[in-house]
Amino acid sequence: MWYNRDVITILDFSREELEEVFETADDMLKYSHSRLDILKGKVMALAFFEPSTRTRLSFETAMIRLGGDVIGFSEVSTTSIAKGETLADTIRMLDSYADIIVIRHSIEGAAKFAAEIAESPVINAGDGTRHHPTQAMIDLYTIRRNFEDIDGLTIGVLGDLKYGRAATSFIYGVSLYNIKKLYLISPPLLSTRKEVRDHLKLRGIAFEEVERLDDVIEELDVLYVTRIQRERFPDPAEYEKVRGSYRVTPESLKKVKRDLIILHPLPRVDELHHEVDRTKHAKYFEQARYGVPVRMALLKLILAGDRV
Ligand code: NCD
Repeated sequence: MWYNRDVITILDFSREELEEVFETADDMLKYSHSRLDILKGKVMALAFFEPSTRTRLSFETAMIRLGGDVIGFSEVSTTSIAKGETLADTIRMLDSYADIIVIRHSIEGAAKFAAEIAESPVINAGDGTRHHPTQAMIDLYTIRRNFEDIDGLTIGVLGDLKYGRAATSFIYGVSLYNIKKLYLISPPLLSTRKEVRDHLKLRGIAFEEVERLDDVIEELDVLYVTRIQRERFPDPAEYEKVRGSYRVTPESLKKVKRDLIILHPLPRVDELHHEVDRTKHAKYFEQARYGVPVRMALLKLILAGDRV
């Protein structure tokens, strides 16, 4: 199902296909501190045109744990791109060196473009404001580890739903399940784009846009918090209008469900108070930890198929 495939958006996959990743990730969890030789001799190229901590390092860790090797760059200024080399030429070259390419780019569609050029499979590690499929897989996996089922849950996504690709990919991912209700919680200036709302309507997802977390927090099983994507605002004045407009604190959690889990793709800035870390609802560090087994599962399935 997964062998040799590109991973460009979460919507390219079915629930069954995601389940295969999750089951493989359950297996990989056992090995997330050892070194296997499943991908011995394989090379992964990382092409990171935008900053990253977790995504890049967990991809790297995943490949090393599977016995493969890693090449690549995370700083454009040290590559020939700084001399004017095109994305197409960069990808062509990486394709000739490596067996799989993982790309992060500020321009939407960059990963698809790379996949059209490269013979090797391409994984989108976040491009522009819409797609970050492996993050969405990690998010869904974290929910699945904490609840028996994603179906039937009430989920709230808080924050920058306009520019946030982690938020958007998560919303797309959730739309593959029969959830009870989806709350899109944001200041009006950061609300979900029309194409995302249209997608939710098409899939028959019960969703509602609200401005205040406080109005819906009691109902939630999952609260997905995101930071304001300051770097993606075309106009700094627009950012100033929404800066600090929402914040989750221990105070916000007074009337929540006992089993509420709070997720955040990280990095956080000021939207999620550090005091929340000490509550049993905080699952964002667990979520970040799952970056390794989920990416191990993906790399294994894409590069080795079902062979162990
Ligand atoms: C996200 C990203 O880069 O889109 N980070 C991540 O991959 N965990 C979210 C963000 O930067 O806010």
